[in-house]
Amino acid sequence: EAAEKSGYEHFMIKEIHEQPKAVSDTLNSVIKDGMIDLSEVGLSEEEIKEISQIYIVACGSAYHVGVAAQYVMEDLARIPVRVELASEFRYRNPILDPKGLVVIISQSGETADSLAALRESKKQGVKTLGIVNVIGSSIAREADNVYYTLAGPEIAVATTKAYSTQLIAAYTLAIQFAKIRGQITEEQYAGYIEELQSIPEKIQRIIEDKERLQWFASKQVNAKDIFFIGRGIDYAISLEGSLKMKEISYIHSEAYAAGELKHGTISLIEEGTLVIGVLTQPELYEKTLSNMVECKSRGAYLMGLTTFGHYNIEENADFSVYIPKTDPHFATSLAVIPLQLLGYYVSVAKGLDVDKPRNLAKSVTVE
Ligand code: G6P
Repeated sequence: EAAEKSGYEHFMIKEIHEQPKAVSDTLNSVIKDGMIDLSEVGLSEEEIKEISQIYIVACGSAYHVGVAAQYVMEDLARIPVRVELASEFRYRNPILDPKGLVVIISQSGETADSLAALRESKKQGVKTLGIVNVIGSSIAREADNVYYTLAGPEIAVATTKAYSTQLIAAYTLAIQFAKIRGQITEEQYAGYIEELQSIPEKIQRIIEDKERLQWFASKQVNAKDIFFIGRGIDYAISLEGSLKMKEISYIHSEAYAAGELKHGTISLIEEGTLVIGVLTQPELYEKTLSNMVECKSRGAYLMGLTTFGHYNIEENADFSVYIPKTDPHFATSLAVIPLQLLGYYVSVAKGLDVDKPRNLAKSVTVE
């Protein structure tokens, strides 16, 4: 096992470091000569033009990819998207539009609820697409179309690199759908692809700054509750950041859409409670910042996660983390990295079993 970890202390940190390569391999598998080519996925231009509605169905972190994808696909391709937990979808007798596309996201391709959702969709005669990491897995075999993520084998229970490659699959689908449906210009199309190709190097830069997060994490070991807040895509990032934290550090954490705080959660803020504000979306920056300030005035200790340039965050945040600038649609790919590192280092500082957290399984093949 030590050999498989190639010198890293845990699989999770090894897999965090493998993200630039996993992302770039996945990008390279669908970008040919500067253009996205979905021929291996199998969706034709005619089929893409006809999609009336997208349903994204998944569990756990893959569901969080769906939440981010919903914003990106709707904004770029202007196709209505609904994202659902597979365990809910399968029991609600879903009404599916016959011209819809059901997208099942699953690292393992074996999650029982996701597989059941796929089968229900096929039974209704709706076209299905699996975004899957494991070749030949059940979802890959049964879906009408398959987009393989090239994360390679993921061992740590808490997903990192598979999640990052699933985001890439979602972005490339969104950009290609947008182009084929005439929603973006050739110039915008080229710009988005160029930006995607810069993501691996930007992820690398964030990972190189890990010691600062390790230091901050060492101060959070006695935290009782941690709250992650954000709006829009920043809410999707918060969901994943919170899951990473709770699943491996055993610290209770919650993600809230920042605007919902006032409807209950803010009563949980006590002196010293850590609130992590995610602010990567320029048009939402001031709104979320004001929610952070509201938490601070009730005693919260604030961490701000934003892009380089937004240095005024330091006027309010007690600890600030910056990510490189990117197109806001793709910010999840960068902002999630410090949150993965934070969860990881809190778990390590607490001396927990990072790669095999209690009660959790890598792949949930039973209900
Ligand atoms: C488990 C894993 C999660 C994963 C979820 C869905 O809970 O611990 O990391 O996101 O299952 O798994 P899948 O293989 O369908 O992506």
